[in-house]
Amino acid sequence: MEYVLVLLGAYLIGSIPSGLIVGKVFYGIDIRQHGSGNLGGTNTFRTLGKKAGITVTLADILKGTIVILLTKFIGVDMHPLIAGIFAVVGHMFPIFAGFRGGKAVATSGGILLGYVPILFILLVLVFLLSLKLTKYVSLSSILAGVFAVIYSLFTRDIPLILVAVALASFVIIRHRTNIKRIINKTEPKVKWI
Ligand code: G3P
Repeated sequence: MEYVLVLLGAYLIGSIPSGLIVGKVFYGIDIRQHGSGNLGGTNTFRTLGKKAGITVTLADILKGTIVILLTKFIGVDMHPLIAGIFAVVGHMFPIFAGFRGGKAVATSGGILLGYVPILFILLVLVFLLSLKLTKYVSLSSILAGVFAVIYSLFTRDIPLILVAVALASFVIIRHRTNIKRIINKTEPKVKWI
C-alpha cells in the first residue's frame, strides 16, 4: 500500500501542469493552442516570452527533483528513480490537463538533478553546446537524453542505466514530430544563442 501511495503521489506531482497554470492564470491562454502545441518550457518561452518560459522550465524541473528528494526523505523501501519515472509519466500524461502534457525533458532532468547532480550539470552543458551549434531545442533535448544513457553506462548503477534508457526513449518518442520537422527542415530554430 505504501508503494502505491508513493507512486500515486509521484504521478500527481508530475501531473501539475505548470505551463497550463502560468499560461491561464497570467496570460489567459492555453499554450497547447499555440506554437508547437506542447505543454512545456520551450513552447511557453516561444508563446509567452522569457519570464514565463524560464518559470515553467524551472517548475517542471522542480517536480522531478521534489519527487526524488521526498522519496528519499520519507524513507520508503523503494528506489527513488522508480518514483521519478512516475513523475515523468505524470508530466507527459497529466491527469489535471486532460492527459496532454510535455515531452519529458525538464522533469527527467529534475529527477537526475535529485539523484546525480553532476549528471544534471553535464546534461545542461551538453544541451547548451548543442543548442549553440544546431539552434534546435528538440535535437538538443534528444542529444542530452542520449548523453545521459552514455554517462549512466560508466556508473555501473543498474537502476540509473535502466532509468536513463527509459527517459531517453520517452524523450525520443515524444519528439517524433520534431524529428520529422528537422528532417524536412521546418523545425524552428532559436535565435537567442
Ligand atoms: O522540451 C521540449 C522541447 O525539446 C521541444 O519543444 O515546443 O519545440 O516541441 P517544442
